[in-house]
Amino acid sequence: MEAVILHGGQGTRLRPLTHTGPKQLIKIAGKPVSQWVLEQIREAGIKDIIIILGDNNPMRVIEYYGDGTHLDVNIRYVYQGKARGLADAVYRVKDMVSDKFIVYLGDNIVPYNLAKFSKFDGSASILLAKVNNPNRFGVAVIKDGKVIKLVEKPKEPISDLALVGVYAFTRDIFDSIENLKPSWRGELEITDAIQSLIDKGKEVKYEIVDGWWKDTGTPKDILEANSFLLDRYAIRKIEGEIKDSAVDGRLIIERGAVIENSTIRGPAYIGNSSKIKNSYIGPFTSIGKECTIENSEIEYSVILDNVKLRGVSLRDSLIGNNSTVEKGGKWQELIIGENSSVII
Ligand code: DAU
Repeated sequence: MEAVILHGGQGTRLRPLTHTGPKQLIKIAGKPVSQWVLEQIREAGIKDIIIILGDNNPMRVIEYYGDGTHLDVNIRYVYQGKARGLADAVYRVKDMVSDKFIVYLGDNIVPYNLAKFSKFDGSASILLAKVNNPNRFGVAVIKDGKVIKLVEKPKEPISDLALVGVYAFTRDIFDSIENLKPSWRGELEITDAIQSLIDKGKEVKYEIVDGWWKDTGTPKDILEANSFLLDRYAIRKIEGEIKDSAVDGRLIIERGAVIENSTIRGPAYIGNSSKIKNSYIGPFTSIGKECTIENSEIEYSVILDNVKLRGVSLRDSLIGNNSTVEKGGKWQELIIGENSSVII
């Protein structure tokens, strides 16, 4: 069985962070969102992975994952380019998959047992979860334990069970995609392709996710996913150097990091070779690798790689790779793209 990770799309709601690369590569709690997905797939025993690339700097994805050997998986790539819809993306693996395969949207985090989910019978299986805002998702209507109808981004409230972006298919899906027409948003919708399986009398199974899950489409979603992953996976692992500092709680401090005259409160993640001096790093914060943070206070934020922060106070903020924020200022919800400088 293969798993297909969708790594394309525009990422408009995450600009400016996605001006320079795909949203699925944004690192939270030390790893890109799509790596959390990939490792979850690997844990289910699936090692044959196909990544679908979009047109937003796709080489970065290939540079990061390579052939997958270092992650103990085998990765093949398919270039989709322009985002023409999830069904268009899935159709591109027609000649690469066997009888059954999984499709996982690379910007979603759905902690669910994929080994169990992948053992389905019928033509397809979908993962669903109850949501408060069904008009943002594809939704499914269930009757007598069966999926009877699916609608993408419904205008009328027909169901509050949303598709969470993890699908299991048989090759039947390819025939359905061949006959699809683009939706009102001009995309070939996978939701419509699954509806067409139902219309042909094929059986579509479902399972319900009753715990936390997230589509990380906005900065707020990224911060929430960061908190969840830190809370769930941060253990106390301190490999960096601690000098005259208080480090409390569940913390990952990677090799080469130096914490000097500072307080760090977990759950938090500090990437390798980052230097933190005269600062306070509060709970639910991820700091990438090779950052320099001095005379600052950071809480509930995601700071990506090689960022310099001096004399700032940040909360609910998201700072892109290679950026600098300096000289005072108390910020909430500061969102900064890559290679930027904010010096006040
Ligand atoms: O998050 C779950 C929802 O995901 C489902 O409930 C919807 O039924 C499904 O259509 C999808 O809706 P979104 O509007 O959130 O999809 P988005 O455009 O954000 O794309 C989802 C992922 O797939 C994202 O990682 C980008 C990637 N993608 C998207 C398109 C349209 C591609 O790789 N190629 C594409 O052509």
